[in-house]
Amino acid sequence: MTQSQAAAAPTAEVSAQLAGLEGLHNQDLLGRYNQSLMGVFGTPQRVLVRGSGCTVWDADGKEYLDLLGGIAVNALGHAHPLVTSVVSSQLATLGHVSNFFTSPTQIALAEKLLGLAAAPAGSKVFFANSGTEANEAAFKLARRHGNNDAGGKRVRILALENAFHGRTMGALALTWKQSYREPFEPLPAGVEHIPAGDADALRAAVDETVAAVFIEPIQGEAGVRGYPEGYLRLARELTREAGALLIFDEVQTGIGRTGKWFASEGVLPDAMTLAKGLGGGFPIGAMITFGDEVSTLLTAGQHGTTFGGNPVAPPPRWPPCTPSNRSSCWSTCGRRAKPSAGRWPDSTSSRRSAARAC
Ligand SMILES: Cc1ncc(COP(=O)(O)O)c(C=O)c1O
Repeated sequence: MTQSQAAAAPTAEVSAQLAGLEGLHNQDLLGRYNQSLMGVFGTPQRVLVRGSGCTVWDADGKEYLDLLGGIAVNALGHAHPLVTSVVSSQLATLGHVSNFFTSPTQIALAEKLLGLAAAPAGSKVFFANSGTEANEAAFKLARRHGNNDAGGKRVRILALENAFHGRTMGALALTWKQSYREPFEPLPAGVEHIPAGDADALRAAVDETVAAVFIEPIQGEAGVRGYPEGYLRLARELTREAGALLIFDEVQTGIGRTGKWFASEGVLPDAMTLAKGLGGGFPIGAMITFGDEVSTLLTAGQHGTTFGGNPVAPPPRWPPCTPSNRSSCWSTCGRRAKPSAGRWPDSTSSRRSAARAC
């Protein structure tokens, strides 16, 4: 098959042929899945073979309205022409270069994110491959800040009860749920969880022994929960006074998910992590650091990743909205997804489970 034929062929057929699994239906494929894939996700509900916009099809040919969106990932739906064209044309041009080199697309996406985040001069971007890796970078940033400052006395890192930040060891230490954490202890030390949205608890906890405070601007795993008005701003004030970093995990809420680019807009953190919707289905994570001081905490050799920011992961025209057309781009999303009284109004089980952690 030539390259152009492959590009033109329907995805489901091509992938089934390549895998030697053509003609198999859900039940057979799930049997094969259980024989070959580690059971960390349990048995998947269906084998999905194709998607278009909000619709997906399973291996039995059944059609579904996709309300899960890849768990906050498929921001533009399935097989969006922009995503498929920029990813496939970039792959056909230059797919990977290692971190001994860079590419125009990597620089373009970093500049775009800094602009969208209204980041001041000196701000920087680190690209990773997932949300947990972006948070892992932020965890190391917090440690560097703690170790840098006054002889390393900032050993505490604060996270919120019910927080979800990922599954790797640092991100897991920040995550609240005991059943996720306990089998893997000991986790990196120094993390304390404080009640979410509780201004007094925040005031009591943030002092000069704290290296960083991690907050999801709206908690996802917790059941899509916001905070009382002014909570993020208070966190900003307290961390600034105490000299601690404020780190927003916008892995789930970022890139238009709440009707604006970032759910925390209006409160500038020291670092922000992104993933999920940023790649529209292509695996990518990012950490933005705000200002020169925070952006120079991690120096050459102190952090890295092979695939992060490769030429394909950050397609040059992605994300597709620009600051000038953002209002039309996200207005529908914003109308439908406005949190009220700390809780989002739409409580259908599919919306809920969509927002929960993977
Ligand atoms: C707020 C938040 N942070 C981090 C993560 C971890 O992201 P990933 O699954 O890409 O590692 C998730 C995943 O659901 C999340 O919701």
